[in-house]
Amino acid sequence: MSCAKYQFTDALLCHDDELEGRRIAFILYLVPPWDRSLGGTLDLYSVDEHLQPKQPVKSLVPSWNTLVFFEVSPVSFHQVSEVLTEEKSRLSLSGWFHGPSPPRPPTYLEPPLPRSPHIPRDHEILYEWINPTYLDMDYQVQIQEEFEERSEILLKEFLKPEKFAQVCEALEKGGVEWSSRGPPNKRLYEQAEESTLPGVLRDCMELLHSEAFFLLLSNFTGLKLHFLAPSDDDEVADGKEGEVASTAAGTEEGASPSSSEPENGPGPTGNTSQQSDGQTDSAAEGIDAKNELNVPMCHGELRHWQTGHYTLIHDNSQAEFALDLLLYCGCEGWEPEYGGFTSYIAKEEDEELLTVNPENNSLALVYRDRETLKFVKHINHRGLEQKKTFPYRTGFWDFCFVYYE
Ligand SMILES: *[C@@H]1O[C@H](CO)[C@@H](O)[C@H](O)[C@H]1NC(C)=O
Ligand SMILES: *[C@@H]1O[C@H](CO)[C@@H](O)[C@H](O)[C@H]1NC(C)=O
Ligand SMILES: *[C@@H]1O[C@H](CO)[C@@H](O)[C@H](O)[C@H]1NC(C)=O
Repeated sequence: MSCAKYQFTDALLCHDDELEGRRIAFILYLVPPWDRSLGGTLDLYSVDEHLQPKQPVKSLVPSWNTLVFFEVSPVSFHQVSEVLTEEKSRLSLSGWFHGPSPPRPPTYLEPPLPRSPHIPRDHEILYEWINPTYLDMDYQVQIQEEFEERSEILLKEFLKPEKFAQVCEALEKGGVEWSSRGPPNKRLYEQAEESTLPGVLRDCMELLHSEAFFLLLSNFTGLKLHFLAPSDDDEVADGKEGEVASTAAGTEEGASPSSSEPENGPGPTGNTSQQSDGQTDSAAEGIDAKNELNVPMCHGELRHWQTGHYTLIHDNSQAEFALDLLLYCGCEGWEPEYGGFTSYIAKEEDEELLTVNPENNSLALVYRDRETLKFVKHINHRGLEQKKTFPYRTGFWDFCFVYYE
């Protein structure tokens, strides 16, 4: 049993409470007079055919000296919605009654996200879109040195100002079809329907997907994202020992016929706690999407972020070697305290390795290994303050690409 105090902007995102031996969850509320407008409700989710949570179907308002309890099961998905008052705190005692767990259905694993190789586009596209500073050879060498040392870099004012302005304008104008990405125990944000993207946004997606851009990224990072890029083996002389040295291992993994990652492993039992305010990763899944041809691949999406959105690290989050790219738009007045930043943590350790904050026209590159997971921090109701200074704004957008050697 423990006591929890939720204050302004605190929330506990969708999870099922399942842990070996937990049978009944209970909560005794010790709240001052409370109503729905203060947030902090206990929301219970329905599930889909894969027993994944869909949406809240019941929402309980906490009240003084009220006991709530429910059976812990593979479908007992619930959340504590964000507390919206600065005046009151939501106090409760909660815990579990234990006993032998009944047999569980097999863990559902999401199909991996589709990956594709570069699309043919020559260098022209780079000169058209990218700040010329980043196409300067000497500067690329500097970038690569820094990247190899730190495994991450932030390239500010990445697109030419006129191109970036066009992208922002297209996003602000609307006309993009967004669909909500779930399930809520793993993520909640909006993803653009790629087939309906207006011209300039489609072109920007194409840029990040292009052959020329794969080459540029190879130059920035020293990774072999194109067969023409020099590989580690070609540069024996230099004894650099950054994390990027492990890329060699990554390539071998890609080529080996089977990985013994716990795809069919023991599932969400025992020793993994879901109670940490653990947040989640989407791209980390699908490690088994084998790169048969050993061709560099990528997956990319255009996302919209606003209050209520997040991604979570979950029991089946899997880490793999990959290069993450984030390019942000519409971040005027965005503050880290709103959430929405991307946080990288060491697997098993909850230790924060790196935070990437949304920033207009800045391109973040992060190379992660199999010990690293990432999540996007829940965007709280403070995020609505952006509107005070920028009335036409609701959140921000990012182009999120992941590249595999
Ligand atoms: C962000 O980019 C847009 C489009 O170019 C511009 O209008 C805005 O002033 C920029 N904001 C900041 C804070 O740089
Ligand atoms: C990458 O660097 C090589 C020189 O090392 C250069 O010839 C090539 O043009 C660069 N590629 C891009 C896309 O900038
Ligand atoms: C936790 O892990 C240890 C060692 O791996 C194992 O002996 C133990 O049974 C596990 N506990 C649960 C509850 O699964």
